[in-house]
Amino acid sequence: MNRWEEWLSAEAAAREAAGLQRTLRPRAAEGATVDLAGNDYLGLARDPSVVEAAAAAARRWGAGAGASRLVTGTLELHAQLERELAAYLGQPAALVFSTGYHANLGAVAALGGRDALVISDAHVHASLVDAVRLAKAPVEIVPHHDVAAVASALATSGSRRTMVLAESVYSVLGDEAPLVALAEVCDRYDALLVVDEAHALGVRGPGLVRELGLAGLPHVLVTATLSKALGSQGGAVLGPQSVVDHLVNRARPFVFDTGLAPASAGGALEALRQLRARPELSDVVRRRMADLSAALGVAPSAGAVLSVPMASPQVAVAAQAAALAQGVTVGCFRPPSVPDGISRLRITVSAGISERDWTRAVDVLVAVVKDHV
Ligand SMILES: Cc1ncc(COP(=O)(O)O)c(C=O)c1O
Repeated sequence: MNRWEEWLSAEAAAREAAGLQRTLRPRAAEGATVDLAGNDYLGLARDPSVVEAAAAAARRWGAGAGASRLVTGTLELHAQLERELAAYLGQPAALVFSTGYHANLGAVAALGGRDALVISDAHVHASLVDAVRLAKAPVEIVPHHDVAAVASALATSGSRRTMVLAESVYSVLGDEAPLVALAEVCDRYDALLVVDEAHALGVRGPGLVRELGLAGLPHVLVTATLSKALGSQGGAVLGPQSVVDHLVNRARPFVFDTGLAPASAGGALEALRQLRARPELSDVVRRRMADLSAALGVAPSAGAVLSVPMASPQVAVAAQAAALAQGVTVGCFRPPSVPDGISRLRITVSAGISERDWTRAVDVLVAVVKDHV
């Protein structure tokens, strides 16, 4: 073995010993199991009108955007998607990126810098953690949901530009951020609040920022993904036009990246229209969340993600395998993908599953969780 092979093999052995080995499992096009692990919360990824809109966009504009947005990769389709996203979320302007990950990287890195201070909730998604690294800004991590800790970090930040990072509905625990209080504190200390709506958009209509009357405020910026409830691919930053103008010029994951693929933009645009036309889709998610959380005896989440703590990574993997053996796929989150170090099943609720499959899946999960306490 050469030096690299030795190192890789030691890394793999350490992962195996800790119960943290991960493998890819390609799935077939037609689902053989009930999928309660994915993020297609409203079933729009397979909606015939969304699929047709994606195909039509590819036929009209090509399989790829062909260039970065600042060269020739900005399509009229992107501009239309940005207008409709901004209107739905109640924001003055929007900018789409090729993924939600890129949207977070782009926004935080372009607005940050060594002369800024970032204050981040301890549970934010890896894309925001990486964004802070790219921003090269000093960061203060505050305990989850701790508005007083945010206020105290802001109070001692001096004359620096300050940015506070939170998710409206957190991706692993599914809990809701105290956004009104955070926005109030940010306003008081002249800070920018960046809210990642990845798990709220669609599931909670236009997102919590709009629901809570915070949309359009100059100190509240939203990031979102087109890859979850919208069933497509891509990301967006929404807020003041001045911020969007800055990102067009300075966000490296925007400037040095090929524009969002036409099929993704076309699919997302149609998904957005479906969302507006069929608000009952999110009612199905809410009802199923209430039923499942009651059946499993855990608190319901603010979105479509239900978190069920497990005793260890090994127990979590065994519970996931037991559900799979009975035809139900659920997520299994272990360190380092969990903010609090607690391994858990991550079960996602989707309106895209038939009532029959859903009822069966709930029965399977109740039995599995009982057997793995
Ligand atoms: C909170 C949060 N933000 C951003 C992302 C990244 O979005 P995308 O998958 O579109 O890159 C995710 C994806 O898991 C997420 O959970």
